[in-house]
Amino acid sequence: MKHFLNLNEIDSNDLIHIVEQAINIKNGQDKSSKGALDSNKPLDGKVVAMIFDKPSTRTRVSFDVGIKQLGGQTIVLSGSDLQLGHGESIADTARVLSRYIDLIIIRTFDESTLYELAQNSNVPVINGLTNATHPCQSMADVMTFQEHRGSIKRKQILWLGDGNNVCASTLQAAGQFNFDFTFCGPETLDPNHSYLDYAKRKGSNVTIVRDPIKAISNADLIMTDTWVSMHEKNNQSSKTLDNQLKPYQVNSELMKQSKKEALFMHCLPAHRGQEVTSDVLDGVQSKAFDQAENRLHVQKAILRWCLDVL
Ligand code: CP
Repeated sequence: MKHFLNLNEIDSNDLIHIVEQAINIKNGQDKSSKGALDSNKPLDGKVVAMIFDKPSTRTRVSFDVGIKQLGGQTIVLSGSDLQLGHGESIADTARVLSRYIDLIIIRTFDESTLYELAQNSNVPVINGLTNATHPCQSMADVMTFQEHRGSIKRKQILWLGDGNNVCASTLQAAGQFNFDFTFCGPETLDPNHSYLDYAKRKGSNVTIVRDPIKAISNADLIMTDTWVSMHEKNNQSSKTLDNQLKPYQVNSELMKQSKKEALFMHCLPAHRGQEVTSDVLDGVQSKAFDQAENRLHVQKAILRWCLDVL
């Protein structure tokens, strides 16, 4: 069973192949790239269930479109549509869906829900985001860097702000794709040490720097994300968090301290004027909208890997 749950669990050669295939798909060197007009339909006859317990624009639409372009069909569900939201267990839901469906994509809260679903599923499961991780996003980010700057190996990646779920998957990507990683944010929002330790064990140079001006000077790629993650939206302390995070805003003054060829990425949705200013997000160094597009291409390659339709 080839689940796509977290990057640290997948052979690095497979991850490298997925990114290469995604670039080929985008460049039209892969048959599936012609989308709906193509006669090659590797997902022909397959039905994918997409369970979204949280809002989504990019993940939901890019998977839905990608699956249809590959010849498959989709059923989009929320937890509350299912008996899952009314007392049926995750394990039983996985067992039942496996009798109808060829692959399950889930966006949910706790990582334990993802793993319980996968453990009880007879079909592949893809992590479409949890509170802890977002591996499909990190695959699109690696792809985006590589299409603009070549190999990401030993490049210096800087994460500014909150050490959240995308940051965690970026650290797993650092270990698997061998890039170096600097976190720059308030100590209270450091990434979980298990992710930092994993990247270090895999040979990534991992550093924590508190001064954004010092941190940015050597970066090949500057990344940030919204300051309040989806699961923390109703948290009373969000104002306090904003104050703590203000020094880590990516604005044009800070970007002036970066190398000219450094790229900026944001997985979106962005809160313009908070973690990033519009002049940076819309500026020449920003590849945020390429990142969003690349979700489509890289997820097609992930689907093909999961279903062994390479
Ligand atoms: N970046 C990302 O996962 O976007 P959505 O929340 O819109 O899916």
